[in-house]
Amino acid sequence: MSNTWGSKVLDGFDGSATQYNRAARLQKAMAWRIAGHCQRLPIPSGRWLDLGSGTGLLADALEHRHPGKIVERIDGSPSMLACCTRQDQTQLWDLNQPLPVWRDPPTLIASSFCLHWLSDPATTLRHWFERLAPNGWLIVALPIEGCFPQWHAAASQASVPCSALHFPSSKDLIALLPNEQIRRQEKLSFSEQANHITALLGPMKAIGAGTSTCASLSVKQWRQLNTDWPARCAEGRIKLTWVIQLLMIER
Ligand SMILES: C[S@@+](CC[C@H](N)C(=O)[O-])C[C@H]1O[C@@H](n2cnc3c(N)ncnc32)[C@H](O)[C@@H]1O
Repeated sequence: MSNTWGSKVLDGFDGSATQYNRAARLQKAMAWRIAGHCQRLPIPSGRWLDLGSGTGLLADALEHRHPGKIVERIDGSPSMLACCTRQDQTQLWDLNQPLPVWRDPPTLIASSFCLHWLSDPATTLRHWFERLAPNGWLIVALPIEGCFPQWHAAASQASVPCSALHFPSSKDLIALLPNEQIRRQEKLSFSEQANHITALLGPMKAIGAGTSTCASLSVKQWRQLNTDWPARCAEGRIKLTWVIQLLMIER
C-alpha cells in the first residue's frame, strides 16, 4: 500500500471485517439514506461504484432500491471485500491511488464513511469528480470538522490528548470542486448515548475505525476522560455527537 498511515488504517479495518456489520449502526443508516437520495436522481445508466465499500452496506442498499442494477464494491481491505454479498462485483484497490481507468466511466460514484481515511480527501474528491461520465453523480458522506464535540471538550478539560481522528472541514473538502455543480450539501447530526466512555467508543473500535495518529492513552487517561465528559444527562449517561457531511455533485 502507498503509505504507512494508509496501511495502518487498512490493517485496522481488515482485522474487523467479520464483526463490522454487527457494530456499524450509523453506517447502515447512512447507506439507506444515500440510496434513498439516489432513487430520486436522474443518474444515467452505466457503471455504478461504491468506493471504500467495506462489506458493501451502501452497494447492497443501492441495489435494493434499484432492482437489477449492479454496484461494484471497491476497497483496499481483502477481508472487508470477502464479506460482501456479491463476490463477483468486488475489486481490491488502494483509494490513495488514482482510480482504475474504465472504458465506460462511472455514472455514479458513491462513498460513505471512507474519504476521511484517505491522505488528501479534497484532492481525492476532485479526482473522483473528474472521473465521472458526463451527467454522472458523485455522492459522498463522511464525518467532518465539528464531529465529536464532547470528546474534544473532555480531552481539553482532562488535559489528555484527543485521539479522535482529525476530520476535514466542509470548506476545505469542497474547495477544489466547481461550486455550481454541487446539488446538495447537508450537515447531519447524530447522537449516541451510553453509561460509560468504553460503551460509547466501543463500536468504533469494533468496526476497525480505532486507528489514530495519537499514541494510545493510558488507563488513567481514559478514566480522566470519562470523568470529564460533558453534558451528562439525568441518568448519568454520556453523549457522543457525530457531524456528517452529505454531498451530492453532478458532473
Ligand atoms: C468505516 S468503513 C466504511 C465502509 C462502508 N462504506 C460503510 O459505509 O459501511 C471505511 C472503509 O474504507 C476502506 N478504506 C480505508 N482506506 C482505504 C484505502 N486507502 N483504499 C481503499 N479502501 C480504504 C476501509 O477498508 C473500510 O472498508
